[in-house]
Amino acid sequence: MPRIARYSGRSARYLPAPLPSRSIDPVATLTVVGDVHRWWRSADSTFLERSRPDLSLFVGDLGDEDVEIVRLVAELPVPKAVILGNHDAWQSFGRKVSTPKLQESLSLLGEDHIAYSVREVPRGGISVIGARPFSWGGPSLRSPELYDEIYGIHTMRQSAAAIVDAARNAQHRDLVILAHNGPLGLGDQPEDIYGKDFGKPGGDWGDRDLALAIQRIEGSGLRVRAVIAGHMHHKLAHPRGSERMRFVRRGETLFLNAAYVPRVRQDAAGSEQSYFLRTRWQAGTCVGVEEVWVDVHGNEADAVAPAIVDIDGMAPVVDETQD
Ligand SMILES: [Fe+2]
Ligand SMILES: [Fe+2]
Repeated sequence: MPRIARYSGRSARYLPAPLPSRSIDPVATLTVVGDVHRWWRSADSTFLERSRPDLSLFVGDLGDEDVEIVRLVAELPVPKAVILGNHDAWQSFGRKVSTPKLQESLSLLGEDHIAYSVREVPRGGISVIGARPFSWGGPSLRSPELYDEIYGIHTMRQSAAAIVDAARNAQHRDLVILAHNGPLGLGDQPEDIYGKDFGKPGGDWGDRDLALAIQRIEGSGLRVRAVIAGHMHHKLAHPRGSERMRFVRRGETLFLNAAYVPRVRQDAAGSEQSYFLRTRWQAGTCVGVEEVWVDVHGNEADAVAPAIVDIDGMAPVVDETQD
């Protein structure tokens, strides 16, 4: 397992300011919406419409196979890319076949659901690659039948190959991967970014197909600059009340977990604020990460750069022969 540099004043580093020589390059904003779980307010739409990010990214778990919340997101008049989560296909996994609700969700989102495909962000010098949707995390696909029906995929290896194919079609060498759950290999403690905190806590709950895809993509000379996902909520079930480490870096790759759940909190005066994660990109490099809180009028109330924790060592080598 990789050795994790625990949070401390010394191990946490903030992203450097952009180099002066790059100042002529435009800066693109990618604003991330973590697991929604039905916490969506009209102020959130107002914020996205007013702040006009180059792309809004949704990591899924909009609701529990809830077409109306999918419709709200699909109808937002802003550029967006979505990867649906396990909750968005909850009943379909139970039946091992897509329900009319899941079919309608996918049809509402159309090309904005970027599973196994690419969305270009030329202003930031990056391509956004969609990983496997509906992930539950852990070693199993849960329903190979469902993935087979929708994507013609029924193993982790096939899923990894489909992510790699999408990356090969990208126009940029610098990539951001959008996923519902993050990859295997970032730690096996409950508080690690994709560590298992439920059931019998402990163990790495990352996606093996995504780890394998990253290994192959980087082996082909492309650069995975960030993996943006959610699914593993910020408050841990065990140890109860503890918080997950959600922002880490290994080598040149940032791993950002946007699952602050519920994403709406009350400020000191009892007024609601909702959570966004804002990233800025210049010439293929991430030049800023901020956690942003938005008030009931859709205005930014607070923005703080989180500490990014460095993970020592190389990515673990993923067994390419295992299905
Ligand atoms: Fe979730
Ligand atoms: Fe989830």
